[in-house]
Amino acid sequence: MAKIILVYGSTTGNTEVLSEHVAAGLKQAGADVTVKNVIDAGVDELIDYDAIVFGCSTWGVGELQDDFIDFHDEMDGTFLEGKKAAVFGPGDSDGYPDTFCVAVDILEERLENCGALIVAESFKVDGDVEPAFEDAKTWGLKIAEAL
Ligand SMILES: Cc1cc2nc3c(=O)[nH]c(=O)nc-3n(C[C@H](O)[C@H](O)[C@H](O)COP(=O)(O)O)c2cc1C
Repeated sequence: MAKIILVYGSTTGNTEVLSEHVAAGLKQAGADVTVKNVIDAGVDELIDYDAIVFGCSTWGVGELQDDFIDFHDEMDGTFLEGKKAAVFGPGDSDGYPDTFCVAVDILEERLENCGALIVAESFKVDGDVEPAFEDAKTWGLKIAEAL
């Protein structure tokens, strides 16, 4: 059974609630999932898991959610060779058409730079997250097979 850590950063709670649904999908697929707010997670913990899932909203104009900024910086130079990974996050393409869900792309790039393998297409939620709860669970279920 794959041991997965899901780390999320969330300012108004949207990514947090999406994380619960993604985690439900992963668990339904039989994965052993640990869900952590990035505030409570350490970069050195990542090495203890087979696979890494990040959830992060985009703030500012194409920036990481505040709590993820230091974590992202600290990941620089971390060796994650052999780890599988996937990333999701909410955004708003109406308000921010040029930087829609850029935080997801930033985290994918950092994971790849650390040697992790992105095994599934990212899951980006546009606008209200509530209608996407079922899709979030389905995404979790789907990526569990690849992680
Ligand atoms: C000040 C501000 C800046 C934002 N910037 C972006 C952005 O650049 N790109 C984007 O896709 N969404 C942007 N958003 C939308 C948020 O990512 C969206 O509301 C998200 O659901 C927040 O998730 P959270 O509660 O987990 O932090 C922004 C929202 C606000 C209020």
